[in-house]
Amino acid sequence: MEVHIENNALGEQEMPVIAEKCGKKYFLETYGCQMNFSDSEIVTSILDEKGFSSTSLEAEADIILMNTCAIRENAEQRVRQRLTEFRELKRQNPSLIVGVMGCMAERLKEKLMEEEDLVDIVVGPDAYRNIPKLIEEVEGGQKAINVLLSREETYADINPVRLGGNGVTAFISIARGCDNMCSFCVVPFTRGRERSRDVETIVKEARLLFEKGYREVTLLGQNVDSYLWYGGGLKKDIDKATEEQKKGAVTFAGLLEQVASIDPLLRVRFSTSNPQDMTDEVLHVMARHENICRCIHLPMQSGSSRVLKVMNRGYDREKYIERINAIRTILPGCTITADIIAGFCSETEEDHQETLSMIDFVRYDLAYSFKYSERPGTTAARKYKDDVPEETKGRRLQEIIDLLRKMCYESNVKDIGKTFRVLTEGISKRSAEEIYGRNSQNKVVVFPKKDLKPGEYVNVKVSKCTSGTLIGEIIEN
Ligand code: SAH
Ligand code: F3S
Repeated sequence: MEVHIENNALGEQEMPVIAEKCGKKYFLETYGCQMNFSDSEIVTSILDEKGFSSTSLEAEADIILMNTCAIRENAEQRVRQRLTEFRELKRQNPSLIVGVMGCMAERLKEKLMEEEDLVDIVVGPDAYRNIPKLIEEVEGGQKAINVLLSREETYADINPVRLGGNGVTAFISIARGCDNMCSFCVVPFTRGRERSRDVETIVKEARLLFEKGYREVTLLGQNVDSYLWYGGGLKKDIDKATEEQKKGAVTFAGLLEQVASIDPLLRVRFSTSNPQDMTDEVLHVMARHENICRCIHLPMQSGSSRVLKVMNRGYDREKYIERINAIRTILPGCTITADIIAGFCSETEEDHQETLSMIDFVRYDLAYSFKYSERPGTTAARKYKDDVPEETKGRRLQEIIDLLRKMCYESNVKDIGKTFRVLTEGISKRSAEEIYGRNSQNKVVVFPKKDLKPGEYVNVKVSKCTSGTLIGEIIEN
């Protein structure tokens, strides 16, 4: 038996409701981006509410769920590999239910059940409330699928169960879907139209986390700068809103201000910013609140204006440089990170050199780089030829990685001798005598543990570094 509190629509507590455990165990495995991890916390909440219990042992599970990613071909291959491993478990236990959720489920729909004949449930990112029902259908002897995308669903009322966490940092989804239609990207197809979540529920979730002892929240959206809450509905339908709704609309700058104002001890991060939408107003809000972390993830994708146009990114090289300069001016000391794609359709050697020169100009503190991977259904797959030979893609990617590694190391070397306010997160994997945390710039800092616990702020002076970590000593606060 389990006691839990149900919230009514006004968020007030009703009498405790006694929910019977249904005795069934589920094993949930998550792949892909932070948004997927956040979604898994929502799904856990939905299943726990229905009396299921989670297990970390796949062999003792009645239900195996995989939250999947479709962003690149190799992400899907990993999931397929894992599914073949589950086949063995299913042989031993024929009543085992295997479900695929997330972007790969949405992209492949019923094809997934045909291709991978052990999949019983296919459920897309907007249909997670339906999972208990889908499980029931499978128990009744059918395969079950729900891949409907929604114009409203933001799971705003669901209080996510924090998974595998350190009790210090947490993700909060602020928007779902994406309307940008970058030509290479499958996300608009797998996650649907862009919709913002009710500002009040976001602030409430952040405040609750702070009260429980959390000290950092990361606000998540595919394009946070495009956040707009005006009382519901799709971002693109703002024209249909009433005058009153328009007047009360909250932008990302407004949301950030509200979350940052909860408490100066609550750090606020966000991801992902988009160069075409990131406003100076957001940068000024950051400058006003020290607890909004000095780190901006600003995907570049390519340094060539011609390629950016083919990518339909909505900005060119000049605009990207202008945004970098705005960050440098308004937020000195802010780290900048990025995503970069190597070998997109029609990319020439000159285009590639422009990417390298942009890396050199920005001097990224960290960046993720990928080989272009054609995704069925996207504009690029339909209209452009994936014409950069594999070998060339590989070589260009390596050049990007080598340059980035050098930049990241140099960025860390520059921090030697500086003192940072660090929020502790956990004991170092290398030694029980050491604790790690991150500074506002999102760099990992390792230092002697002494009697510190996760969730505390300390000043650390950096004495050494590697390309991924700063190493230091605590100094008097
Ligand atoms: N919304 C974010 C991130 C989307 S996906 C944004 O604005 O960029 C994360 C990253 O995966 C992207 O930034 C891009 O660099 C990479 N990516 C997306 N589709 C890709 C593809 N088809 N091939 C290679 N990399 C891709
Ligand atoms: Fe994808 Fe571009 Fe949106 S990279 S998630 S379509 S901003």
